[in-house]
Amino acid sequence: PIKVGHIYDVQELRSATPTVIPERCIRDMADERPIKATPPHPSMHNIPIVDLSNLIQGDEDQFQRELIKLGTSCQDWGFFQVVNHGIDKELLERMEKLTKEFFMLPLEEKKKYPMEPGTVQGYGQAFVFSEDQKLDWCNMFALGVEPHFIRIPKLWPAKPANFSETLVEYSAHIRKLCQNLLRFIARTLSLKEEVLNEMFAAAVQAVRMNYYPSCSRPDLVMGLSPHSDGSALTVLQEAAGSPVGLQILRDNAWVPVQPVPNALIINIGDTIEVVTNGKYKSVEHRAVVDMEKDRLSLATFYAPSYEIDLGPLKEFINENHPSKYKKYNHGEYSRHYVTNKLQGKKALEFAK
Ligand code: SIN
Ligand code: FE2
Repeated sequence: PIKVGHIYDVQELRSATPTVIPERCIRDMADERPIKATPPHPSMHNIPIVDLSNLIQGDEDQFQRELIKLGTSCQDWGFFQVVNHGIDKELLERMEKLTKEFFMLPLEEKKKYPMEPGTVQGYGQAFVFSEDQKLDWCNMFALGVEPHFIRIPKLWPAKPANFSETLVEYSAHIRKLCQNLLRFIARTLSLKEEVLNEMFAAAVQAVRMNYYPSCSRPDLVMGLSPHSDGSALTVLQEAAGSPVGLQILRDNAWVPVQPVPNALIINIGDTIEVVTNGKYKSVEHRAVVDMEKDRLSLATFYAPSYEIDLGPLKEFINENHPSKYKKYNHGEYSRHYVTNKLQGKKALEFAK
């Protein structure tokens, strides 16, 4: 009962005795293995923290200081943690608890919502396209949430009770946060406040819950292969008590992200990189697994509507900064992204 489609169910693998790590999960290239990289400089240890309350209700001074911090975070890091984001701790905890309960259901129950090979919604492993591809040490459960037409009702689970209602409630709050962030990110770029929100009107929003079981040989497997996100913004919630797992590529070193309690981790996706002509970077990241503890993360991808055509805004193109990307349709980009394996920033070559 271990296989889901042509892939493995990692939770089942881990609970089998004796635990066997299948060849398909063992990274053979030393540079694909999660060796512990020590960041060369202490300043590289932690991604910046942005206090949203200073942007929403701070005085002029607080506002300007926070805006500069937000701009620097987007330009120099591509990642930041947002605190005082306005989403109730209770709601985050409720979503986290229900997600954990879903992953703890027996495999037969979860298999009622299969992620069919080559698709990205349901329970299983996304981005698997060939038998010789290495598999990540992760079970995923992904659902499209907005706009309504991307929902696939038969994949929304009956158990645990209230999961679906809570996901809708959660997503509405995350959406509001994304809109707020995009408003202020536009300001950091000296654009009119609503430019990005207008551009991403009718945004597509999907959530992917990632469950990374512990592994007796975390040095041989990868939780999630290195990639940049195809979204405009990604909002990541780390379950309380999870071991550190997310790492971002910074100056050629993998830098671990230490989550701040109750903060949400935000990263710039490929779309913002394109629109800003590379000023704000969609940074490569990956997830590694722990030897003892399981890890759970909830990622919301906030992306433009499939209909829109994207390219660098004229504000970011000049003699010194010629256009780095062509104009393309985001729906086509999105299809390209989800029908290829995760591989660093390779997907973005589509826009070149
Ligand atoms: C992701 O990149 O989608 C999730 C990474 C994580 O689990 O930290
Ligand atoms: Fe990601």
